[in-house]
Amino acid sequence: MGELHGKIAAITGASKGIGTGIAKALAAEGASVVVNRIRRNPEGPVAWPNGFCPAAVSRRTRNSGRHGLPRNEGTVNLQGRVVLITGAKGGLGTFVTNSFLQSGARVFGVSRSIADSDFSHPKFSAISAALSDADRARQLVDAVVDKAGRIDGLLHLVGGFAGGRSVADTDDATLDRMLDLNLRSAFHVIRAVLPIMRAQRSGRMVAIGSKVALEPAALAGVYAASKAALVSLVRTVARENSDLNVSANVLLPGTMDTPANRIADPGADYSKWVHPCQVAKLLVHLVSDDASQISGAVIPIYGGEA
Ligand SMILES: NC(=O)c1ccc[n+]([C@@H]2O[C@H](COP(=O)([O-])OP(=O)(O)OC[C@H]3O[C@@H](n4cnc5c(N)ncnc54)[C@H](OP(=O)(O)O)[C@@H]3O)[C@@H](O)[C@H]2O)c1
Repeated sequence: MGELHGKIAAITGASKGIGTGIAKALAAEGASVVVNRIRRNPEGPVAWPNGFCPAAVSRRTRNSGRHGLPRNEGTVNLQGRVVLITGAKGGLGTFVTNSFLQSGARVFGVSRSIADSDFSHPKFSAISAALSDADRARQLVDAVVDKAGRIDGLLHLVGGFAGGRSVADTDDATLDRMLDLNLRSAFHVIRAVLPIMRAQRSGRMVAIGSKVALEPAALAGVYAASKAALVSLVRTVARENSDLNVSANVLLPGTMDTPANRIADPGADYSKWVHPCQVAKLLVHLVSDDASQISGAVIPIYGGEA
């Protein structure tokens, strides 16, 4: 004991595993141990805990900070636009919904369990619906048109992950769940919205795929396949509707910095993950006039995992 008294040890990677053990062992021998500590917070994103994005993207207008929202200087102006956001209060959806509200859009937010009070804003309306049900998808689209008269943007965020098993070991229930969440839900809502946008002769659709749609990883075969099918669906919609100024694009995020992912993987380096704001701000841009000629795009957002 005490053989290292008077020595100083600087240790990187001391926050977990063998690094912690080495730091403790050196300290026990009397060394002064200096560690670099990365702040981790499994409860939620550290940087923007309230689901609001910082005003880093400078665009045309200034938001006055009304309705209790933080000032978001220079955000894109979507005043007068009506958008339908599916998965509106999920890990990504919270940032997306707040970003569209900050841009001035009228927002209808969908999930199986959602209330107006989830986003206290006069331009937000909640619609509870399961998109795995085709009739329910049609009904909710009709409800939006009844209330707002039009739909300018569809942001389809609903989706979900299943993994941990090889294709050989994947059961039918998992396959069905992945197809329901990642393909059928998209098909149902896109099919319901298309006649509205075609009649308007304008509209923007953006769906959220995944990095694995293009770059499959082992042990997530049906998730990757269902997201790849989504990419194909969206690109087909882009081709079929370019004549009527209806665009369709798909974003492919890598692992995102969401509360659920932090809880699932508390030891990860979050700085490599995609922040939901990067995705949210791109969605706002793709609905704006500045992106009217972008359609059929498949956009990777891989963060530090590129
Ligand atoms: N998180 C990531 O690292 C990551 C990476 C790449 C791609 N993605 C994709 O990004 C999208 C958003 O991910 P996320 O992490 O924000 O997911 P999330 O937190 O699980 O949010 C998903 C949302 O969809 C709703 N939802 C689920 N099933 C539904 C259904 N049948 N009908 C209507 N709403 C339904 C959920 O709310 P209710 O439970 O109230 O219905 C929830 O609001 C997904 O498409 C996901 O596959 C995520």
